[in-house]
Amino acid sequence: MEEKNCPSAEIFFKKNLKKHTGIKDIRFILAVGSGKGGVGKTTVSAILSFALSKADYSVGIFDLDFYGPNINLVLGLNKKPIVEFGKIKPVSSNNIKVMSLALLISEKEPVFMRGLMASKLLQELLQKVEWGPLDFLILDLPPGTGDIFLTMLDFFNPEGFILVTTPHKLAISDAKRTIAILKENNMPILGVVKNMSDFFENETAFQQFLNEQKLNVLFEIPVLKELSKTENLLEVFKLPEKQKFLEDIAEKILDKIFRIH
Ligand SMILES: Nc1ncnc2c1ncn2[C@@H]1O[C@H](COP(=O)(O)OP(=O)(O)OP(=O)(O)O)[C@@H](O)[C@H]1O
Ligand SMILES: [Mg+2]
Repeated sequence: MEEKNCPSAEIFFKKNLKKHTGIKDIRFILAVGSGKGGVGKTTVSAILSFALSKADYSVGIFDLDFYGPNINLVLGLNKKPIVEFGKIKPVSSNNIKVMSLALLISEKEPVFMRGLMASKLLQELLQKVEWGPLDFLILDLPPGTGDIFLTMLDFFNPEGFILVTTPHKLAISDAKRTIAILKENNMPILGVVKNMSDFFENETAFQQFLNEQKLNVLFEIPVLKELSKTENLLEVFKLPEKQKFLEDIAEKILDKIFRIH
């Protein structure tokens, strides 16, 4: 991979700091999670990938929501990954490499998996998916802090965690539990993504949460009215009026990553 793609790499290696343990040839692994379901993890993972890709970084998204995989819908993907000699090649969508169980099994097939099986599957995918060189791999996490979440921490030990929440008390309460686990595992939290930021009128609990946890808002995503008409975020974020938004997000996240290392 060309060095110019990732100007942070030199700084990163010079300082000899924490490095993810997940996959060789991938420079940064970022986990996108929350405690609560449905607060926008997949939406944020996709937007983050658009932003970093637009900033000329090579990006992959790994959908770790084995029970409800859906990154394919958000990216308008219906291609099947190529399986060759026991290795799986991620599917490409607009230069973003994607792996999701949704690409391997049909929507009609129910996913029956106990925790241990899910952990085993993650381990298997970790070995079998050939990502190739990437600047960023984004892990779109499932809701909660169950087996997949814990296995992800063990196997990937990502450089940073991006905590998605709406500024609503119910979501914050779950986020606090997630933070406690992350702290115990020495997982750096890059910041909070405040999703549907313009919808909630009372933000007292959210501000209190940020102060208590000593966390900052990394970036905000307003309610995207376009999502009432389509689930395809790729279409939405191709619009010219969305480009500045993506550029701002890339700047914020890159700034944060360079600073923690
Ligand atoms: N900023 C937003 N504006 C409008 N709709 C949104 C926004 N963020 C998310 N949504 C919608 O809310 C729903 C849940 O979002 P999403 O799937 O990203 O959440 P999730 O946290 O990944 O859910 P899960 O826990 O099931 O994985 C989706 O229908 C999505 O389109
Ligand atoms: Mg999701």
